[in-house]
Amino acid sequence: MKQRLQKILAQAGIASRRKSEELIAKGRVTVNGLIASLGQSADPEKDIIKVNERQITLEKKVYIKLYKPAGFVSTVEESHGMPTIMDLVKSSYKIFPVGRLDKDTEGLMLLTNDGELANKIMHPRYGIEKEYIVRLNKIFQPIKKKVVVEGKEVNAKISPRENPYELLIKIKEGRKHIVKKYFEQIGYKVCYLKRISIGPLVLSGVKKGTWGYLTSKEKQLLLKL
Ligand code: URA
Repeated sequence: MKQRLQKILAQAGIASRRKSEELIAKGRVTVNGLIASLGQSADPEKDIIKVNERQITLEKKVYIKLYKPAGFVSTVEESHGMPTIMDLVKSSYKIFPVGRLDKDTEGLMLLTNDGELANKIMHPRYGIEKEYIVRLNKIFQPIKKKVVVEGKEVNAKISPRENPYELLIKIKEGRKHIVKKYFEQIGYKVCYLKRISIGPLVLSGVKKGTWGYLTSKEKQLLLKL
């Protein structure tokens, strides 16, 4: 099926759609040996598409959810002998995690080889909300002032849990250590952190330390984003 070239490149994980358009405009993309132009379509199953003279391949897209336990580093590369999430997930596809969790954080991680979806989930423009359970070092007192982390205001929705030391926090940001920094900024220490959702995807159906492929319903919800 014919599709816009920038969409095909994004699906192949080459770059975002916008960056792919730049590659096309710079003449770095060819279709069947001819330099492609912006707006051009191609059929990834029939046409030979090359970027910087290298042919792109479109793998089947896989979507995996993992319940990461604490103690695992969320990278695909070796990590100085420390256990990584790739010790937990066995896949022959070139999957990567969509966003990171700290080594001591547990909970939901999405792994995929769909570069376009990953970009969408991580890009602040789309404002995809992630939800966490947090346990603090002391009982939380609601605040009215703005919370600024490293010069930028952080918008978070906080709601109580039954345990007075625990809260639910919904946050759109993806900055490193953002939840810990948020609470540090207002005088609390995060003692425990668990991610329970990424947009419409929730942590259910997988036990701690295990993973599974998304159901077609879960996939549909994510791909609609
Ligand atoms: N915020 C943090 O501080 N740590 C995480 O692992 C995720 C969000």
